[in-house]
Amino acid sequence: MSDSTTSPDASFAARLAETAGRIETALAALLDDRQRDHEIARPGRLLAAMRHGALGGGKRLRPFLLIETARLFGVAQEAALPAAMAIELIHCYSLVHDDLPSMDNDDLRRGQPTVHKAFDEATAILAGDGLLTLAFEVLADSEAEASIRADLVLCLARASGLAGMVGGQMLDLDAEGRHAAGTHRHPPSAGDVRRLQAMKTGALLTAAVEMGAILGGASFGQRMSLSTFGQALGACFQVADDVLDVEASPDVMGKATAKDADANKATLVAALGLEAARAERDRLAMDAVGALRRFGPEADTLRAAARFAATRTN
Ligand code: IPE
Ligand code: IPE
Ligand code: MG
Ligand code: MG
Ligand code: MG
Repeated sequence: MSDSTTSPDASFAARLAETAGRIETALAALLDDRQRDHEIARPGRLLAAMRHGALGGGKRLRPFLLIETARLFGVAQEAALPAAMAIELIHCYSLVHDDLPSMDNDDLRRGQPTVHKAFDEATAILAGDGLLTLAFEVLADSEAEASIRADLVLCLARASGLAGMVGGQMLDLDAEGRHAAGTHRHPPSAGDVRRLQAMKTGALLTAAVEMGAILGGASFGQRMSLSTFGQALGACFQVADDVLDVEASPDVMGKATAKDADANKATLVAALGLEAARAERDRLAMDAVGALRRFGPEADTLRAAARFAATRTN
């Protein structure tokens, strides 16, 4: 709700918070105790760990982008909700596994103990697996027309797996130098960092807008523009995360900061320095806005989302 006394940033924040609330409610219902007809049981410990990983926090930016992109084409929030939940479930699973002792070894996430801290490592692995699988169940079970559902599944699977998020996570670990036969030179170049970030983070953020475009029946050209927007926003978002690791506090971020350098993480801050990383982040936000030039004021929320990716404080 914007009026003359509300800044565009404040109205964007309110809109994001409103969608986050809607996603939280929908995910809580999905992960409630009630055994479904097709289920033999909902193992309580696994369910609790999945709830811990998926509920109670997070900006919910991926589902927001999906819903707002679908809205460009007149799709109601309710119709976009299953796909929005699916992409957030994948994101939550990626965080649960990213935090594992064998990955980034983090104890704090969204202001809470990480899933392996609150439960145990095996339970956290299974909770991640459960969230990943549930994402595709939700998509396949949605009311969208069959060919649209198949396109959504394809888009989300590609963004999540070997050549998307999971592949990027592999390159991220390789680039720490922890594997003798890693695929990166050391230290990784800025190009290496950009590529791994396009996969580990960019792929899912791009899929968010592409899935909105699929739901909306976008033309090829519209989908290409949105995909370019998503790629720039996704790159911007991860550079901002790298900068925030240096500049922000754990209290505000809800996760440990000042960790990447000690962990030998391949970030643009490490490859280019803090100043150049900030400049690249801001340039990418402008590139994202530029990619939307074919759209009118109906895409202003997406433009605001690109600026948010760069200027966010957590
Ligand atoms: C954190 O993602 C992981 C990255 C890709 C940098 P978010 O910053 O979107 O995390 P939540 O969902 O808001 O907690
Ligand atoms: C996260 O990158 C990428 C994922 C696919 C989860 P980071 O490892 O930098 O994310 P944070 O800082 O732990 O949220
Ligand atoms: Mg990581
Ligand atoms: Mg991490
Ligand atoms: Mg990080």
